[in-house]
Parts: sequence; C-alpha cells; structure tokens
Amino acid sequence: MSAVRINPSILAADFANMQAELARIAGADFVHVDIMDNHFVPNLTFGPQMVARIQDTSPVPLDVHLMIDQPERWAPEYAELGAASVTFHLEAATDPVALARRLRAIGARAGIAVKPATPIEGLFDVLDEFDQILVMTVEPGFGGQSFMPETMPKLRLLSDEARRRGSAVWLQVDGGISESTIAQAAEAGADTFVAGSAVFGAADPDTAISALRTTAAR
Ligand code: DX5
Ligand code: ZN
Repeated sequence: MSAVRINPSILAADFANMQAELARIAGADFVHVDIMDNHFVPNLTFGPQMVARIQDTSPVPLDVHLMIDQPERWAPEYAELGAASVTFHLEAATDPVALARRLRAIGARAGIAVKPATPIEGLFDVLDEFDQILVMTVEPGFGGQSFMPETMPKLRLLSDEARRRGSAVWLQVDGGISESTIAQAAEAGADTFVAGSAVFGAADPDTAISALRTTAAR
C-alpha cells in the first residue's frame, strides 16, 4: 500500500471547543466535516457559516461530507469557502458527473459517497470524474456505530476495478473505523480512513491517528 490518509471526523469533537479540538489532531491528513440536513439522514449538524469558521481556524485541510438532499444547491458553496474536498451522495444527486465537474472547476477535490446498500458498479465508467469515492461502512447519520463488514466485498470490487483501469481515485471508508476494523478496510483496498470516536474518544487523538496509520499500512 502506498499512502494512508487518516481523516478524523469532528462529529465526535466537542463543538464548544472547536479550536482546541482542531489543535489536538494536527497530525491528521484532513479534517472530516459531516454535514447533515435531517432529510437525507435523520440528523442535523451545521452549515456553510460554521464550516467557513472551521476552515479559517484549522491548520489541516477540510474534507466535507455532505449527507444532504439537493447537493447541487450546496456543494459548490463548500468548495468556494475553501474545502479541499467535497463529497456528496450518489443517492441524492441528479447529475453526479456534472456536479463533480463544477466542484473541480472551483478547485476542490470531487468526491462521491455510497450508502452500504447502494451498488457501486454504476460508477465504474465514470471513475475518473471523481477524486475520491467514499464507501460508507455504517448507515450515514450518526457517529459511534458499528462497522459493517458486509460492505467489504463492494469496496474490494471497486478497488480491483480502479486498479484495472489504472485510476488514481482515492478510496475512502467512513463509519466504525478503529484499531480493530481498519486493517480489513485497508486490506479490501481503502487508502483514506475517516474515524470519529476512535480519534476523539482517545486520551491523545494524535497518538490514536498514528496508531491507526500504522495498523492500516501493515
Ligand atoms: C456518519 C458520519 C461519520 C461519523 C463517523 O454518518 O459520516 O463521518 O462521524 O464516526 P465514527 O468513526 O464514530 O463511526
Ligand atoms: Zn462522514
């Protein structure tokens, strides 16, 4: 395996002390920011104003994960405020390729996410329209859920196909990633790992990030 990226999810951080929480994950590759609208998922987080402040404050670039309906309405706004990557859900988008092209034109990495039950084969012919593909390893909506090992065959199928096509797309997993689950996701082909509770629930988040990185690279 070449690069391993660890993206802590601030969904598990203390929202009242965001600046201090961001300082605790200085060793992260990206800060994962979960946007939920209480329509696409049954939970609500925050919007562009909050993310703009996090962007101003964070020394680490932002990886925005939109769990929202009508991503066409909002995704470009996150790219414009400076997020390094913006990922929207395949299930919510009307024209995923067109939206990815808009995000790239603004200068962000374009990502597409699939829920655990969503087939991946439909993306095979358009892999290069995206910079990263997120295979959800829990049902989106909440942190602290258990990793779903039944999503691994889909990830492996995707990583085999990406390799076959010589694609440089990053393969991301999100949900229930910890010291005990990260190795199987890495083995199935993931190179980018979102972890919320496993990082912010640790006594020292930066040590937890290093440990996850080491286990994934093994
Ligand atoms: C879930 C979010 C995840 C979540 C991960 O819907 O997309 O990013 O924060 O949290 P953990 O690592 O605790 O499962
Ligand atoms: Zn997420």
